[in-house]
Amino acid sequence: MRGPLRLGVNIDHVATIRNARGGLHPDPLRAAKLAESAGADGITAHLREDRRHISDDDIMRLTNELAVPLNLEMAPTDEMLDIALRHKPHAACIVPEKRKEVTTEGGLDVVAGYPHLEPYVRALGEAGSLVSLFIDPDREQVCAAAQIGVPVIEIHTGAFCDSHQFERERELQRIVDAAALADELGLECHAGHGLTFDTVTPVAKISSIVELNIGHFLIGEAIFGGLESSIKRIRVLMDQARSELEGARSA
Ligand code: PXP
Repeated sequence: MRGPLRLGVNIDHVATIRNARGGLHPDPLRAAKLAESAGADGITAHLREDRRHISDDDIMRLTNELAVPLNLEMAPTDEMLDIALRHKPHAACIVPEKRKEVTTEGGLDVVAGYPHLEPYVRALGEAGSLVSLFIDPDREQVCAAAQIGVPVIEIHTGAFCDSHQFERERELQRIVDAAALADELGLECHAGHGLTFDTVTPVAKISSIVELNIGHFLIGEAIFGGLESSIKRIRVLMDQARSELEGARSA
């Protein structure tokens, strides 16, 4: 076991709701502080090129006012690098970004994108951020991430979360295998995308994964039971999965 399983709460979609009316409410910083007190170990925010949810001002306020670490998700562009170098977030997760996509649809192609990505990885690392690459659970991508020199990968769990019952085991196995390979190669392993109360447990039981980043479902669920309650519930599920794993190992 690599350590306790951390929860990063992604607050992008609080900003989505705020931006729907162009005002200040609901404030993602307020949500981030509430997430902190409900048990989040970190806050994740994606500053997109089109600023559809999180704004530059949000990143400044999150950087200045959060007690827990900020994980900035960013596309590998010069504009985003400048912003990251100015704010020096605790962690920077490089993600692929397409203007027309509704959400981050798949992982980075680190194999093909190696020459483009490498200078961003290096510059962010030199600035002191813990750099990760958001990749699909694919052997070649994990190996390329190790070669490029990142300390961390984040595995895209979207295909698993969206899969039909008959393909679920296969999709989960892909994550298990990618996490095991990351571990072997000395990479810290995170995971996220599409996780819910129903899908979090099997992923939380993968011992080499040390952080889950969860957003859309928690913010959506907050409509029905409140943000504090949705975060506490996912925290309980993560902790239960981890202690079952510990129990199975010591039995
Ligand atoms: N991790 C990364 C790298 C992401 O891009 C996202 C979505 O912004 C998430 C985790 C969280 O995904 P979701 O909002 O589906 O929980």
